Amino acid sequence: MSTNLKIRCLPVEMAFEAAADESILAAALRAGVMLPHSCKTGLCGTCRVRVVDGHVDFNTAKARGLSPHDRAEGDVLLCQTRAVSDVTLACNIVEETRDVPVRRIAAHVVGVDPLSEDVRRIRLALPEGETFGFVAGQHMNVVMSGGVRRCVSLANAPSGGDAGLEMHLRNYGGVLSKYVFESIKDGDLVRMEGPLGTFVLRGGSDRPLLFVAGGTGFSPVKSMIETLIEQRSSRPMSLYWGGRRPPDLYLHELAGHWHDHVGLDYVPVVSDGEPEDAWQGRTGFVHQAVMDDFDDLSGHDVYVCGAPPMVEAARRDFIGARKLPPRQFFADAFHPS
Ligand code: FES
Repeated sequence: MSTNLKIRCLPVEMAFEAAADESILAAALRAGVMLPHSCKTGLCGTCRVRVVDGHVDFNTAKARGLSPHDRAEGDVLLCQTRAVSDVTLACNIVEETRDVPVRRIAAHVVGVDPLSEDVRRIRLALPEGETFGFVAGQHMNVVMSGGVRRCVSLANAPSGGDAGLEMHLRNYGGVLSKYVFESIKDGDLVRMEGPLGTFVLRGGSDRPLLFVAGGTGFSPVKSMIETLIEQRSSRPMSLYWGGRRPPDLYLHELAGHWHDHVGLDYVPVVSDGEPEDAWQGRTGFVHQAVMDDFDDLSGHDVYVCGAPPMVEAARRDFIGARKLPPRQFFADAFHPS
């Protein structure tokens, strides 16, 4: 018999139930409680919390994102932890997402734009009269036939959410890519669940912002930057956008426009350019370009989105060698399914 155990999150009074055979993170997300997370595999450390009361089964073998010191202090990674009794946790609730309901919606395709050979922009319209709220940086689960779900970031600012939604998709060859690159057409109905995720623009800070994106990791960053522009934010902003070749920076001109019109410091970086690209800009890995340009990141808020190796290198080096406090590092690593 499976018994549901009660999980309490402090300091806010928030509670949800978890079965003994599921991770506490999975139970939280199922209940619509948006606890910070990214990789769900024990690597990134984003879902770290402290167990205040109760007993848990923590799979330490898979918890590479937790230092021995933090483990000794009683911290666990929720994606690798199951409840054994009722449990109380000291959680990092993401305030910005607390009151944003997760919903099932269906939207019509109103445009598909090729942004490069292997990136498409999908524009979706909600049914007339329908509204949809999200926080800049969040993503949706696109529900394919057979219930297969694929996670895609929202690329527009939330203020445009009532008018429509924008998504950027790279061709990874999976079921969603196959649909988007081979058969999608205007008028198609796309079913989704969301908004999801805790990689969101955080309020309550006036520190300069540093955004680091790899490839289509630009998509949630675009949502955040457009939100800040709409809010007429006076916070200094830098964007480092990396790709293998210049076409991977598929909205290079838009980022250049931000540079010219709102003072965003835009640094495009190419790692594997070919002679025919005639690339004149920075070369190498994007996180290394940041390391080369900043001696000290302690006064910044840093948002990083891209492939797991880039995100992990940024986390390690910005925090370890550039004095970035861990609480000022926000990241989302996407894993192609
Ligand atoms: Fe749990 Fe990454 S370690 S989400």
